[in-house]
Amino acid sequence: MIYLNGEFMPLEDAKISVLDRGFIFGDGVYEVIPTYSRRPFRLAEHLARLQASLDAIRLANPYDGAKWAELVGKIIAGNPWEDQNVYLQITRGVARRDHAFPKGLKPTVFLMASELVTPSAELMKSGAKAIVLPDFRWLRCDIKSTSLLGNCLLRTLAADAGCAEAILVRDGELTEASASNVFVVRNGTVLAPPKSHLILPGITYDVVLEILSGNAVPHEVRPVKESELRAADEIWVTSSSREVLPITTLDGRPVGSGKPGPVCARVHALYQEFKAQVMRAPAHA
Ligand code: PDD
Repeated sequence: MIYLNGEFMPLEDAKISVLDRGFIFGDGVYEVIPTYSRRPFRLAEHLARLQASLDAIRLANPYDGAKWAELVGKIIAGNPWEDQNVYLQITRGVARRDHAFPKGLKPTVFLMASELVTPSAELMKSGAKAIVLPDFRWLRCDIKSTSLLGNCLLRTLAADAGCAEAILVRDGELTEASASNVFVVRNGTVLAPPKSHLILPGITYDVVLEILSGNAVPHEVRPVKESELRAADEIWVTSSSREVLPITTLDGRPVGSGKPGPVCARVHALYQEFKAQVMRAPAHA
C-alpha cells in the first residue's frame, strides 16, 4: 500500500502527471525512515531534516509533524513487513516546463514502504568492498534531493568494480559515499568529516557520534584528508539501511588487517543496543 496526494492505494494504481516537476526536473526532496518492529526510528529527526531540505528548495511543507507521523504510521500498518524502509517524497507539483520555481503549485506527496534488510551476518563478518572516486556532485549535497543522478552514476561505477560503495573525495578531502556517510579510524581515534554543504547530514551519522561520545570512544569531527582515508586502520559507512557497515577493501587493497576492526565491531554492537533500547521505550508521538 502506498500514499499519493491524500489517498492510500496499491502501488499499481498510483499515477502522476508527466509534467510533474519531480519527473521533469527532479524538483523534489525525500526521506528514508528505518522502521523496526513497526516503529519508526528517529522520526522527529527525519522530519526535521525533511523541513531543512524543503526550506532549502523553497517548498512549503504540506503537512505538520502530527500529520506526517500519522501517514508514516498508516503506511507501516498497511504493509506486511515488521522492519521497513519508509520512503517519502514531495515534489513541487505539476506545471508547464519552466526552470524557475512556479508559485502556488499543489505539491505531489508520495509515501511507500519496502522491506528493511540490514547487512547479513556474513557481510558483517567479511566487510564490504569500496572504491574511491572524485565527488563530482553539486555543492548542495546537504539537501536530500530526489535529483540523484550523480549519486546513481557513482554507485554504478562502484558496482561495475564489484564494490558495495563509492567513497568520495573532493579537493583532497573525504566527503561521504554515494548513499552513506563515512567514518575512518586512525591510531584508535575515529575521524568523521564535519557537516557542511558537501555532505548529507545523516541521521545514522548523528546516532554514531552520540554513541562515540556516550561511550568515551576517542573521536574527532574534522576534515579528513584523502591520505588519511587511504591509510586508515578501519573504515565504515553508515546509513539508515546499512546501519554500520565495515569496509575492508578499498581500491582493491585491504583496509588495516583486511578484516572488520575492533572499533567498528564495538560501534556496531552499541548501535544495535541503542536501537533495541529505543524500540523498547514507550511509543511517543
Ligand atoms: N541514503 N549520504 C547520502 C548521499 C545518502 O544518500 C544517505 C542515505 C546518507 C545516510 O543518511 P541516513 O543515515 O540518514 O540514512 C548519507 C538513503 C538511505 C537513500 O537514499 O536510500
